[in-house]
Amino acid sequence: MPNTLWAVIRKYAIRTYGCQMNEHDTERIAGLLEMDGLQQTELFEEADVIVLNTCCIRENADNKLYGQLGNLKKLKEQRPDLQIAVGGCLAQKDREIIRDKAPHVDVVFGTHNVGRATGLLAEARDNGPITEIIEESEAFPSALPVKRNLSHAAWVTIQIGCDNSCAFCIVPAVRGREISRPYKELVGEVEGLAAAGITEITLLGQNVNSYGRDLTLKLRGDELPPNAEDLAGKAWVAGSRRSRPLFSDLLRSVAAVDGIRRVRYTSPHPKDLRPETISAMSEIAELCEHLHLPLQSGSDEVLAAMHRGYTADRYLEKVKRARDQIDDLALSTDIIVGFPGEREVDFEQTLEVAAEARFDNAYTFVYSPRPGTEAAELIDEYVPASVASARMDRLRKVIERSSRLGNESRVGRREEIIVEGSSKRDPNMLTGRTRHNRLVHFPANQPIRSGSYAQVEVTAARTFNLLGELVEITSAPKHRTRIPVVAS
Ligand code: 5AD
Ligand code: SF4
Repeated sequence: MPNTLWAVIRKYAIRTYGCQMNEHDTERIAGLLEMDGLQQTELFEEADVIVLNTCCIRENADNKLYGQLGNLKKLKEQRPDLQIAVGGCLAQKDREIIRDKAPHVDVVFGTHNVGRATGLLAEARDNGPITEIIEESEAFPSALPVKRNLSHAAWVTIQIGCDNSCAFCIVPAVRGREISRPYKELVGEVEGLAAAGITEITLLGQNVNSYGRDLTLKLRGDELPPNAEDLAGKAWVAGSRRSRPLFSDLLRSVAAVDGIRRVRYTSPHPKDLRPETISAMSEIAELCEHLHLPLQSGSDEVLAAMHRGYTADRYLEKVKRARDQIDDLALSTDIIVGFPGEREVDFEQTLEVAAEARFDNAYTFVYSPRPGTEAAELIDEYVPASVASARMDRLRKVIERSSRLGNESRVGRREEIIVEGSSKRDPNMLTGRTRHNRLVHFPANQPIRSGSYAQVEVTAARTFNLLGELVEITSAPKHRTRIPVVAS
């Protein structure tokens, strides 16, 4: 019997490399493919379309990509109808290299034309391989359809690009100048998300605290642009109290949207973290008491060479102020080990600052030279890989210790969680996320819908997560996704 239905459903698979910006773009690409009628699969072998959403921030991402493209070549030889697309910031930067190394790729697209992904795939089907990179942003990705990983949580891009020039970082070169989205559009988007049942949002940008800086320039002319209030929000227009909207205004406005219960943001730059942001976090219940504040290094010399614009003391002062004002604050960070010229004494200072800051979590990276960045030129000062990796082991121990101590201090407490789903390792356990962004695993002894809010009692601490018992479900989500629960 011909199985016509099965035969016509085409499938897609996406792999994401890199940061949350990329995960966010991946959700958009998935949304577009689903609009085209494709269904998601985890398996490359059964996909008709494979999208690799790449990242160029750290080196091993390119090695992984070229390895992956090598494997896909065989698949494409077996199934010439398979379409392969490569997007993201590595594609933006290395378009020619990808074309050269992997001529079997059908579409190469950049970070500014995510919305064209499916159009380009269709064009490539008719006309052969296409590369389309746009240097300037056409539209913010948030205007695109989306297929979310979690039905209760959404990312909202508030700004793209970066105007800083950290010596190690390729982002300004590939993502371009900082552009903030208009204030009113952002608040409108959050209202739309809340109406669709989303209760948690994360505001995304390379340097969220400088949100609005470029809007100032637009507003500075002799005549007020007619859309001034749309661009900058009421804070600016009503009485011209200052020349631009602040990030803290935006935090307050999105937190006030009916239905939004948790607001997070990533990443702020320590040099731009303003008292107004800390005050907003201390005053507004919807703003989660979690600060991700990239340190990068604890040595003043290394920080200066990185052009970070703060010293270790200044960083610690900001942390202290935040801790003093925001009750029960969780703190996480990014740290780079082995920046060119980093001496043992510099690294020891990083260890000291990390211990003093008592990070709950840290993303730690071994420095990797990105061609075209200032630091990549300092070849004579590169730190040998073996030294960097030994330092990384020492740093991880310090982070693990503070993370574990932080977790142990939660034992016996009640935490509000949003239920995410079954635990990946054990289907008898459910997983939820605390306001601190910690995962709590707890036994699945009753059906709970993903997106429900619940109280759990923390019963044990692991290094990076918690174990708990369900106390009560406090509210169910508006949408209907029931997590299958194994009877216990
Ligand atoms: N090498 C290692 N880590 C890097 N990061 C950015 N560029 C590099 C690089 N060249 C890290 C920084 C940043 C995070 C997103 O990635 O810590 O905060
Ligand atoms: Fe890169 Fe520095 Fe901009 Fe962050 S602030 S994106 S590290 S240049």
